[in-house]
Amino acid sequence: MPRWWQGTVGYEIYVRSFADSTGNGLGDLPGIREKLPYLADLGVDAVWITPFFPSPQADHGYDVADYLDVDPAYGALTDLEALIDDAHGLGLKVIIDLVPNHSSDQHPWFKDALTGRDAEHRDFYVWKDPAPDGGPPNNWVSHFGGPAWTFHEATGQYYMHLFLPEQPDLNWTEPRVHQAFRDILSTWFSRGVDGVRIDVAHSLVEDAQFRDNPKLDGPGPADDSPQEIFGSFDHAHDLDQPGVVDIYRDWREVAEPHEAVLLGEVYVLEPEKLARYLQGDGLHAGFSFESLKVEWDAEEIRSALRAHVEASGAGLAWPLSSHDDPRAATRFGGGEPGAERALAYFTFLCGLPGAPFLYQGDELGLDDGELDDDAAQDPISRRNPGAKGRDPVRTPMLWEPGPGFGFTTGEPWLPFGANRHEGQTASAQQGDPGSHLERTRELLAVRRTLPALTDGSPASWPIDEGAVVAVERGGEVLVLLHVGDDGGPAELELPEGSSLAYATHPDVLLLDDDRLVLPEDRAAIIALPDARVVTAAEEDEVAADLTQAQLDAIAAEVDVASPDGDGGRGGAA
Ligand code: NOJ
Repeated sequence: MPRWWQGTVGYEIYVRSFADSTGNGLGDLPGIREKLPYLADLGVDAVWITPFFPSPQADHGYDVADYLDVDPAYGALTDLEALIDDAHGLGLKVIIDLVPNHSSDQHPWFKDALTGRDAEHRDFYVWKDPAPDGGPPNNWVSHFGGPAWTFHEATGQYYMHLFLPEQPDLNWTEPRVHQAFRDILSTWFSRGVDGVRIDVAHSLVEDAQFRDNPKLDGPGPADDSPQEIFGSFDHAHDLDQPGVVDIYRDWREVAEPHEAVLLGEVYVLEPEKLARYLQGDGLHAGFSFESLKVEWDAEEIRSALRAHVEASGAGLAWPLSSHDDPRAATRFGGGEPGAERALAYFTFLCGLPGAPFLYQGDELGLDDGELDDDAAQDPISRRNPGAKGRDPVRTPMLWEPGPGFGFTTGEPWLPFGANRHEGQTASAQQGDPGSHLERTRELLAVRRTLPALTDGSPASWPIDEGAVVAVERGGEVLVLLHVGDDGGPAELELPEGSSLAYATHPDVLLLDDDRLVLPEDRAAIIALPDARVVTAAEEDEVAADLTQAQLDAIAAEVDVASPDGDGGRGGAA
């Protein structure tokens, strides 16, 4: 039987940019709490909230100074408890962000570690003597520019940091670090959180000999941006090391009694390597970053997603966008055409085994905010002038028309972007059936009525080539995406008695002779003749009390898509 996170729909909340309840321009926990009914109404099942812990904010919260409290800028622990209670009351799960690879340099452990080589917490971090020439111990580089090592004069050693110098790496060969994180997890699960998203889950362990990373063959970095320089190495010795999954095996014992999910940010693109984290008793789930990388290209989408499904199945989470990568709408062309494609692509992700994830604002059809260079807040661009940072994807949410877009009554910490307008706000879209918001809501509602999409039913790939990508689930549901090849609408013959459960646009048509007309940049969900269908009302009544097995038994008895019935035919609402 599937666990609660398999088939769930997730929603990433970037806390700084979601909703500001105080007017100081920064999103906060009470702001999120106010918006929970909006999220429940949208039809998501779980929220992932980015770090809200006390932090100097060198990397906007991914530099944690206290793993067990709330930064006053975001509220108080009581606000979080109230948020969790409300979320649970609305049927939403709450996933928080755990950052175990590194802490802040302001964490008491690191402050103590700096006091001397024999300090109590010295070994909580990764220290090495200088190389014979006095330089860093090896050639590892930081994701954010410069070497992955900073020299500490007073104690004469280098400490390692895969990100900023203000984010020293924790030493996962130290048993007390293991114990500390078991305790942190256990505390949060006892406080009611339903799971953790594990930051850079592939990075915790380093090569025991700290060998240099080989340079990749080829022309080398195209420019001196941190991304290019980091990408010019084969990260054979600093990332994805043997032994890292053992950490999660251990954490499972802490998570299981609470039915809590361990969801890894495993930034490993090769399907087999990613699968290693999810096999047996490793992580419960992991993000597939292929889903954030693929271009608007049918062959690429088909082969990349298929390979991941075949290697890892329902253990995967499929982000449409994230706070670290360009939004899907931008990746797929920007503006309204990009947003249309993003909705079509998300519809396809909703057809895969596992958990599709929206990033805040995806449901509004947002592409990246257009910002001036001098607005830069991301440490990547602040430290490396000219380097492309992540600010454009982090611009604040658009709730209502007006100067602060309902996000804040004050000055937002990051501008909204020159391309933002009132028509993109949630309130302007609410109730308009053609809006991105309503079409996303309809998609999620339809998905809930088709158990084959959420219960781990096996996936097959009925179309091997061409501009239409298709995934079929358990012989019951077919999800189709027309990526476009300038050839105009595709026509597909469906089995007699199929019905059109959802289409991203009303120009998708199912004709009386069972031919589907699917224009370019559109997606459709087809209930095949044998599909189990649970109506929304039935689902509402039973979902709270029944197990999936009981739900399935009920679904089998209710009306299935009938060959002559008109239910589900026609275009999108
Ligand atoms: C991944 C997070 O998503 C990103 O925002 C952060 O900068 C790095 N990990 C470092 O924690």
